[in-house]
Amino acid sequence: MKGIILAAGAGSRLYPASIPISKILLPVYDKPMIYYPITTLLLAGIRDILIITNPYDIDNFKKVLGDGSQIGVKFSYAVQKIPRGIAESFLIAEEFIENSPVALILGDNIFHGFGFSSMLKEVGTRTKGATVFGYQVQDPERFGVVEFDKENRAISIEEKPKNPKSNYAVTGLYFYDNNVVQYAKTLKPSNRGELEITDLNKIYLEKNELKVEILGRGFAWLDTGTFESLLQASNFVQSMEINTGMKIASIEEVACRMGYISKEQLISISKKYKQNGYGRYLEKIVNTI
Ligand code: DAU
Repeated sequence: MKGIILAAGAGSRLYPASIPISKILLPVYDKPMIYYPITTLLLAGIRDILIITNPYDIDNFKKVLGDGSQIGVKFSYAVQKIPRGIAESFLIAEEFIENSPVALILGDNIFHGFGFSSMLKEVGTRTKGATVFGYQVQDPERFGVVEFDKENRAISIEEKPKNPKSNYAVTGLYFYDNNVVQYAKTLKPSNRGELEITDLNKIYLEKNELKVEILGRGFAWLDTGTFESLLQASNFVQSMEINTGMKIASIEEVACRMGYISKEQLISISKKYKQNGYGRYLEKIVNTI
């Protein structure tokens, strides 16, 4: 399975904070936002990751993440010049995807919750059909919305409906088989001029090949789209990290736990950050791996 992180938005809702640097590189508490979606892909067993950025921010992403070899993975980069829609990712990434199934995560989607790692591990092995994740929200009209029948099977999916048929939002994490590229090529721009990810999911739904995994009540799917929600996400991460003594989305820790780098490599990375708590944390947890 290959992975794509879509991080090409201008982030204009966070201007002026996101003028100098992409929103996706702004900190969520103690690490750049993109560490969170990277962690999600790593936990799904994905090590070959394409990062799609806008033309202005690509060098900053490269500066932060490099080629990924330091954490035992491969990062490559592509540009989306104009935000023509989330589903355009599969057209941009056609050569990268080759014959593989592929997961897509939006760069600003942060997931955290008990049992997520094992769920991702299992979903990451699926090679047929599509899998998306449903999460109950108060304001479903802001999202893609999925409706279920009595047996909890998905029966409809709509983008930002005025009258949502359920409270279940479709989150920004999607797993597809290799047909996704061909299906993406058949999409037409929506009324807002975008190739909609929801239209792609509808194709799978109509073929009876869309699975919707529910992320339950104890689960956190955090929004980072406004100043308030970005700060709340930072506060959430800080409070979880302080309470548990464990970090959320330390890509170096996850890479070591997944066996992508050795303990010696982790110790060497920790030295780079030895001036602060992040480095001391990595040094401390080596013994628990
Ligand atoms: O967050 C989940 C929601 O994401 C889903 O429930 C919706 O079905 C899906 O359409 C999407 O909702 P939004 O329309 O609100 O997404 P937004 O336009 O805010 O884009 C999400 C992120 O992707 C954002 O960081 C910008 C980036 N992006 C978006 C588009 C359309 C790109 O990098 N390129 C694009 O072309």
